[in-house]
Amino acid sequence: MSSNNDLADMQNNMPKKDVVVRVCNDTTCTKKGPESIMRKIKEVFSDVEYCGCLGNCDFGPNVKVNNNIIIQGANQGTIIEEINKAAEKKAPTQEEKMANLDKALDEFDLI
Ligand code: FES
Repeated sequence: MSSNNDLADMQNNMPKKDVVVRVCNDTTCTKKGPESIMRKIKEVFSDVEYCGCLGNCDFGPNVKVNNNIIIQGANQGTIIEEINKAAEKKAPTQEEKMANLDKALDEFDLI
């Protein structure tokens, strides 16, 4: 049976992953305690910095992964798993975004 210290030791000995992570510490997210999330992320990832507002203030604290996916309502208990999942996703291309928009508009009979 492993303890939390064993898990932390394992994480510290694992190679840091090649993922760009930005943690919002602008006005609203700062009130929601991004420091503990930042400490947890730095245990696993090396390219980690604070950043300004990500435009998602109501749902913070927010974390941006690889410059294209925002994890909202981040908490230190799940953030590593969420970042790993986000890092596996690719951002939709502009064409995919437009196709999704067309599909959504069709569903609402707006065009
Ligand atoms: S203050 Fe963090 S998203 Fe706006």
